[in-house]
Amino acid sequence: MSKNLYNFENRTAVITGGAQGFGLDIAKRFLNSGAKVIIWDIDPKMIEKAIKDLNNPNLSSNIVDVSNYKEVESCTSNIAKKSNIDILINNAGITGPTAPLWEYDIEMWKKVVDINLMGTFNCCKTIVPNMIKNNYGRIINVASVAGKDGNANASAYSVGKAGIIGLTKSLGKELANKNIAVNAVTPAGAKTRILDQMTKEHVQRMLSKVPRGRFLEVEEFTSLVCWLSSEENTFSTAAVFDISGGRSTY
Ligand SMILES: NC(=O)c1ccc[n+]([C@@H]2O[C@H](COP(=O)([O-])OP(=O)(O)OC[C@H]3O[C@@H](n4cnc5c(N)ncnc54)[C@H](O)[C@@H]3O)[C@@H](O)[C@H]2O)c1
Repeated sequence: MSKNLYNFENRTAVITGGAQGFGLDIAKRFLNSGAKVIIWDIDPKMIEKAIKDLNNPNLSSNIVDVSNYKEVESCTSNIAKKSNIDILINNAGITGPTAPLWEYDIEMWKKVVDINLMGTFNCCKTIVPNMIKNNYGRIINVASVAGKDGNANASAYSVGKAGIIGLTKSLGKELANKNIAVNAVTPAGAKTRILDQMTKEHVQRMLSKVPRGRFLEVEEFTSLVCWLSSEENTFSTAAVFDISGGRSTY
């Protein structure tokens, strides 16, 4: 597949959950397009591997749990001392266990919502003031079709992702009078390590709902994120961009 070039020269991007999967592919394409990229991830081994594999002086990282406000705040203020933060990709997420709501472990339920939704809130809360100061910003919040349609046996995940959609619509409107765009994306299933957190039956059920009849490729997802993250996106904000292979039709 041929790839269009984007101009991310002089842009600094924070990508949460960037050590693997979607986040890592976005990091690669941003770096190839001239951006400075900072990966925020909770997994030190995967960060180390990503840094080694990508071997790019414009790539750096922080080990951070996005659900921990203090950690996020401290990372943000360290970066903001040296640089603008132009792009924020809120991508870190977990699915949690596959279980009906009445059997769902309460602590796990809270954890899934904390990482997916509060993590997005924490990163926006600490980074948006930097974008306001510079009157420039592109924020992409990674939601999911689960947040639109609701997946059975994934109530915490569906709630967290639906919350991200609500947060995006609200924050986008709050910032609409500035050159800051806030958008959400709703991918269907892609073959990343996150699928290991769910049962095989659950993954098959997800796939059976996709009219395209296949998994989303990470590169296809990155293409959409690139345009939304670029200066070319001057008008779209507070919106939800679907990339579910026809599953969600709104
Ligand atoms: N792959 C899919 O099928 C799919 C579908 C829809 C939405 N999504 C969403 O896309 C995003 C990326 O998923 P992926 O498929 O690349 O998964 P992945 O498991 O490959 O990568 C997720 C990354 O997030 C990191 N992470 C987890 N908890 C964290 C925390 N508390 N703080 C910081 N980092 C944390 C992990 O260490 C990992 O590197 C997630 O938000 C996911 O919900 C994925």
